[in-house]
Amino acid sequence: MIRIDKFLSQMQVATRSESKKLIKMKRITKNGALVTDGGEKCDPKKDCICLDGHPIAYQEYHYLMLHKPAGVVTATEDKKEKTVMDLITLQQKKDLFPVGRLDKDTEGLLLVTNDGELAHRLLSPKKHVDKCYFTRVTGQIHEEDIHRFKEGLDIGDEKKTLPADLEILSSGEISEAKVTICEGRYHQVKRMFEAIGCKVIYLKRLSMGSLTLDPALEKGAFRKLTEEEIAALLQPPRKEKE
Ligand code: URA
Repeated sequence: MIRIDKFLSQMQVATRSESKKLIKMKRITKNGALVTDGGEKCDPKKDCICLDGHPIAYQEYHYLMLHKPAGVVTATEDKKEKTVMDLITLQQKKDLFPVGRLDKDTEGLLLVTNDGELAHRLLSPKKHVDKCYFTRVTGQIHEEDIHRFKEGLDIGDEKKTLPADLEILSSGEISEAKVTICEGRYHQVKRMFEAIGCKVIYLKRLSMGSLTLDPALEKGAFRKLTEEEIAALLQPPRKEKE
């Protein structure tokens, strides 16, 4: 059971103080009866809370896709730097966090959620979730590098990298490629290119597991995931908790 004013803010309907105003204005009902006190409790899974007669769908977890721009750090808080969470302009974002880390100068897909179980599933080294990046590097990329990425590279860690997929898009003084890795080591893509003599000058994450960056999403913008995107990420679906 949670307070109705808290429920309204958690469902992104209004801030806590705006919720109180909505209640004062007699715009909120619980199972058809007018709510007069924000402190009144509700069971979000069972009770039907309405705003102006329209039911507010209960959602325990929130899933957002952010197009991370360069220049912001992947953290929930930072004393000096702007964080990815500063870009999430929602009323209620207390429990949200970014899933995994992109470097400050890396752009692209970042999932933001309050679903710890999904985050664990996507980040666990045992799960080998694919992450695909577009990259621009200095120096040529050769056909044999495809095999080197497949074989695993020595990037200075105890173990070689797991097999990665390299697709060369162009090769010259500046080269472009797509690379898919299934680990998440520190600066992994940059260090893999370093191992073949190239320096990454631009890096953008295009996908993570089944989730692909929406090409219509501008840099710095975010949107809610669609039902289909959520269902695909949650495969196999979690068991309903009582
Ligand atoms: N690999 C990197 O080197 N940097 C990132 O931000 C992500 C993957």
